[in-house]
Amino acid sequence: MTVLEGKQVLLGVTGGIAAYKAVELVRLLKKAGAGVDVAMTGAALRFVGKTTFEVLSENPVITNLWEDSHGSVAHIDVAARCNAAVIAPATANCVAKLAHGLADDALTTTFLAVTAPILICPAMNTHMYENIRVQRNLDLLEKDGVHILDPDFGTLACKTVGPGRLPDPWLIADRIEQMLTFKDLAGKNVLVSAGPTLEPIDPVRFVSNHSSGKMGYAVARAAEMRGAAVTLVTGPVSLSPPVGVDTVFVQTCHDMAEAMLTRMDGADIIIQVAAVADFRPDQQENLKIKKRSDQDGMTLTLVQNPDILRAMGERKRPDQFLVGFAAETHDLAANAVKKIEKKNLDMIAANLVGGKDTGFQADTNEMTIFFKDGSHTGIPLMDKPAVAHKILDAVLGRLEPGR
Ligand code: PMT
Repeated sequence: MTVLEGKQVLLGVTGGIAAYKAVELVRLLKKAGAGVDVAMTGAALRFVGKTTFEVLSENPVITNLWEDSHGSVAHIDVAARCNAAVIAPATANCVAKLAHGLADDALTTTFLAVTAPILICPAMNTHMYENIRVQRNLDLLEKDGVHILDPDFGTLACKTVGPGRLPDPWLIADRIEQMLTFKDLAGKNVLVSAGPTLEPIDPVRFVSNHSSGKMGYAVARAAEMRGAAVTLVTGPVSLSPPVGVDTVFVQTCHDMAEAMLTRMDGADIIIQVAAVADFRPDQQENLKIKKRSDQDGMTLTLVQNPDILRAMGERKRPDQFLVGFAAETHDLAANAVKKIEKKNLDMIAANLVGGKDTGFQADTNEMTIFFKDGSHTGIPLMDKPAVAHKILDAVLGRLEPGR
């Protein structure tokens, strides 16, 4: 469940080749539990039929102020009931009209009546987008508090290469979610680690673990949604970096230690989700180790890696809040509590690993959070993004005023 559940989103579609992507956006918003109303310009109707949006949104589509009255003032009704409004794609013409308060069609008239937060997704030819008049209009809208999602760079339908492509629908949905999320972490700097570390044996082999990065990435994304400035230090995973998060890519425990320790002084909240390899091969061969026919096996000597969390615990200032994670196969509470003291933590989020619904790789997790004052609270089994929000709720609940 996300913040979109039960919300009403008004989607404006204007006449650009990317109008077809708005169809997928409706599907994603509905899947997330939002209700959707659609307003289209006459030019948009030349690219995608009204029926497609009507079927997917399960609502009448506003295209004309005079014919779509539905027994009431439909465009005012949808403007009044929306919790968020988005125009995707937004043409240069639509951007200009909105910037200057013009309302000469159903879409612009509807949007002029919107009091909810608005996201504009401009999409057009690169030269049009870079035109000083279009940029000036976008600046005007931004100054008025309208959110702008910059277009992607790429090859456009007109074969121009440059900025102008409408971003993917999942990204637009992500930014609508961000717009609707309460900013209770505004002004905070949050440093998060995620994923495994990978300790090379030779150029082709390594020692590592099963961390997928899902939990750490969810924490970073949730903190960004809640208004924090977030830095994510990540080991090698196959996930896309969360939008709006400054992401630093590392490989080994030593890389991660350097990345975290050089950034921790600027952080208010530090959350060490990464599954750091406790051991690394005592030496890394420069050339691939060859199999030898006169040997049945080989012995690998491992040495202990530095404990990054412990080093951060020793260095942390009283105004910083340090969160560790504990991955346990047994004695969850006893092991987690020991780590709070040993690593000087404010809080530890403990999960069982080895099962299919929690810990490594799973899309869900179940956690017990232990605080340094000896108290604890549980997070029942839920999706990792929801768990991430619960962890941040727990942090916020413990932050002293001014910290
Ligand atoms: O990435 P996913 O597939 O979504 O899986 C999520 C997860 C299981 C990795 C995550 O929920 C989790 O439990 N992370 C902590 C994993 C871990 O290393 O736990 P630990 O109990 O071994 O270590 C305790 C704490 O010390 C952790 O915060 C760890 O990051 C830190 N540590 C450990 C060793 C080390 N050398 N340096 C550290 O900083």
